[in-house]
Amino acid sequence: MNSLVSANNRVLSGMRPTGRLHLGHYHGVLKNWVEMQHEYDCFFFVADWHALTTHYEVPDVIGKSVWELVIDWLAAGVNPGAATVFIQSRIPEHAELHLLLSMITPLGWLERVPSFKDQQEKLRGKDLSTYGFLGYPLLQGADILAYRAGWVPVGEDQVAHVELTREIARRFNFLYGREPDFEGRVKVAIKKMGKKNARLFHDLRTKYQEQGDKEALEVARELLKGQQNITIADQERLFGYVEGGGKMILPEPQPLLTSASKMPGLDGLKMSKSYNNTISLRDTEDEVEQKIRTMPTDPARVKRTDPGDPTKCPVWQWHLVYSADDLQKQIQEGCRSAAIGCIDCKSHITRAIREELSPIQERAQLYEESPDLVRNIINEGSEKARDEARKTMDEVNHAMGLSY
Ligand code: TRP
Ligand code: SF4
Repeated sequence: MNSLVSANNRVLSGMRPTGRLHLGHYHGVLKNWVEMQHEYDCFFFVADWHALTTHYEVPDVIGKSVWELVIDWLAAGVNPGAATVFIQSRIPEHAELHLLLSMITPLGWLERVPSFKDQQEKLRGKDLSTYGFLGYPLLQGADILAYRAGWVPVGEDQVAHVELTREIARRFNFLYGREPDFEGRVKVAIKKMGKKNARLFHDLRTKYQEQGDKEALEVARELLKGQQNITIADQERLFGYVEGGGKMILPEPQPLLTSASKMPGLDGLKMSKSYNNTISLRDTEDEVEQKIRTMPTDPARVKRTDPGDPTKCPVWQWHLVYSADDLQKQIQEGCRSAAIGCIDCKSHITRAIREELSPIQERAQLYEESPDLVRNIINEGSEKARDEARKTMDEVNHAMGLSY
């Protein structure tokens, strides 16, 4: 049985297979995954169905990118011994849950998700007035809830999707979490906590329900976790009771905002494929060298002897990512006094990137040469993911009256 407690330690995240990964993905997402995999129960998946919601006209791009993506993850240090790595479309439970949740999802909730209008406007060349595109944040919700993940590492732009997922989980629990004599069981369980805790528990519930105090909800969660006298099923019941629903079948996930620095692009804007300012994880040494060489610098430094200002130079942004404090200091002084030239200044960056990419590229090559190994990793991960998702679906089907 899944529980409040184990749900909290589970992390789920996905990426769309729409092209090669670059340093922005590495610093913004992948490094974070690699760190988390030893602390959390991590599930990482290739979101191929998500890619189809916007790229349905070019399925061959997706097919090709799936394996490249998995290899990039493995090369960057995602360890299949520590994390479960799989492909979304191998787990039909995502689609099953998406369908079932669609029954209870008000249209307005989907239409109000900010990315719905944003993306439609941004990707004007594509016809995105499709059913699949509207429902894509719900599909993301199904991805998360199928594993009852407690944490979802996402960027700023995806927080609204996690919020939607929370609302849907709450609605689901409210609609289907009522078991016969729910209130009676709750009463008995509260008694077992002892008078003092019971009073605290009631107070926290009131604070959350009447004032929407989210901290009270968290404190209640902690309080329940610490109760030795009550069963896990009772903990879930009581947590559902605090939230105002019935028994909690689908736990509400939390977004885990990555504090990692936004990787600057070659032009100083955020690194992104659509700005054409990226360095790919598979760029060769020559490509990296050439891209850094042609990066713009402080325009005041026309001649080698002109002093510059690092704050006006995108190269400096990269020193903030790659250089130690003493080198940063040296660059600051050298640039402002014209003691160093831009070519020198850039050479540190070229070297740092080469050092970062070369072990990644070596590992990538090993995986490129052993497609069977990569397939096995995905087969195993998908099998494990499917077992987990099936457990949730059995409960969801049962709760929705579909267990004949
Ligand atoms: N929507 C995410 C993106 O476009 C990818 C994604 C799909 C995802 N399902 C997810 C991320 C579940 C986190 C959790 O980047
Ligand atoms: Fe930019 Fe470095 Fe040149 Fe200064 S010395 S302008 S920081 S590249």
